[in-house]
Amino acid sequence: DTSPRGQLVQLHDQVAKLYHHILVNTEAGRPAMQYLLHRGMSRALIDQFNLGFAPENNADGEILLQYTQNQDIDYQLLRKSGLFTEDRNGDLHDRFHGRVMYPIMNENGHVVAFSGRILAPKGNDNEPKYMNSPETEIFNKSRTLFNLNVAKKAARQTESLTLFEGFMDVISAYGAGVENGIASMGTNLTEDQIRTIQRITTHVNICYDGDDPGQNAIYRAIQMFENNAPRLSLQIIQLPAGIDPDEYVQKYGGIKFKDYLQNSQENPVEFHLRYLQRGLNLKNQDELLGYLNAALRVIGQVSEPVARDLYLQKLADEFSLDKESLKRQLDEIIPHVQRTSATSKRKSVQQRVTSNSS
Ligand code: CTP
Ligand code: MN
Ligand code: MN
Ligand code: MN
Ligand code: MN
Repeated sequence: DTSPRGQLVQLHDQVAKLYHHILVNTEAGRPAMQYLLHRGMSRALIDQFNLGFAPENNADGEILLQYTQNQDIDYQLLRKSGLFTEDRNGDLHDRFHGRVMYPIMNENGHVVAFSGRILAPKGNDNEPKYMNSPETEIFNKSRTLFNLNVAKKAARQTESLTLFEGFMDVISAYGAGVENGIASMGTNLTEDQIRTIQRITTHVNICYDGDDPGQNAIYRAIQMFENNAPRLSLQIIQLPAGIDPDEYVQKYGGIKFKDYLQNSQENPVEFHLRYLQRGLNLKNQDELLGYLNAALRVIGQVSEPVARDLYLQKLADEFSLDKESLKRQLDEIIPHVQRTSATSKRKSVQQRVTSNSS
C-alpha cells in the first residue's frame, strides 16, 4: 500500500519492531526489561503485545532519527507521523525517550500510534507518566481502543468485551486468560468507542481501578452506554479499594483474578445504589434519609416491577427498614422523578428500543 496512510502504517509497524528489538535484544533496553519483569510482566506478554523501549539519546544521537535517515524515508512523511517533534528550524527529534513503548494497533493489527511510559517518576520532574502519539492521519484517539484487534476475536467466544482503564490492566488480564480486554486509554469513553463496542458485542464488563477516579469513571461510562447503546447489557466489577486490575493479578494471581471477575459482578443499578453511598455517614439520620431518597429515585427508574420490588427489598434489608413504607415513599417520589430531564431522556431511549424491535 503506497498511499500516504499506508506508508504511515508501514512506518509505525517498522518502528514498533525496532523498539521491541531494542527492549528484548540490546544493552540499551536492559533497564526497561528489568522494570517490566520487576512489575511481573512475562517475556511471553512482552512479545504478545510487542512492547518496546525508546532509549534516551546516546552519543550517536537519536535512535529513530538515525533509523529513518538510514532508510531514506521522506521528510514530509516523518513530519506527519507524530513520531517526532519539530524544532524552530524544522529539524525533527525523537518524540519518545527513555520510555517503555506500547504499540497501539488498529482493528487489523497494524500499529498506528504509541504510548510511552516513563520507567520511574524522576522526583522533581513533572513529566507525564504516559505520553501518547498526537492525532495523525492514521490515529484518532477518540476512536481507538487498545487491544481491540485481539479482543474482538476473543469476543466471538465470550460474547463480551471487558473494558479496563489502562494498558497494563489489559495486558495482565490477558496473561490471566482474559483475552477480551480493551482499554479506552484514559478514562473518558467516547461515543465513537461505544459505537465500535456495540458493533462487536452485546455485553460489556466494566473493570476500572478501585480508586475514586475509577468509581467516578464507571459512573460516567454507565451513563454513556445507557445514552448511546441502551441495548448493550452491562456488568460492573468493582475492585478492592486502592487496587487496579494489573495490581490484583500481580498480588493474588490470574486464577483469583478470573474468579473475581466472574463472582463480583454488579448490574448498573446495584452499582449506582452503592455509588450513592460514597462519602456518607449512614449512621447519621439526615444523611441516611438523604441517601434513601436518592436510592429510591434510582429504583423508581427501573421499569420492571419485579426488579423494582427486589431492590426495595434489598434496601429494606440493608437498613432494617419496613419495605412497605419505602414503597409508599417511592410512590410519592416517582411523580417528581418523572419530571427530571434524565428520565425524559431515558424514556425517549426506551421508545427507540421499542420502535426498533417492532
Ligand atoms: N493515562 C495517560 N496519561 C497519564 C496517566 C494515565 O494517558 N498521565 C492513561 C493511560 O492509558 C493509563 C490509563 O490512563 O493506562 C489509566 O491511568 P492509571 O490508572 O493512572 O495508569 P495505569 O494504567 O495503572 O498505569 P501504571 O500501572 O503503568 O502505573
Ligand atoms: Mn518478540
Ligand atoms: Mn487509574
Ligand atoms: Mn491504574
Ligand atoms: Mn496500574
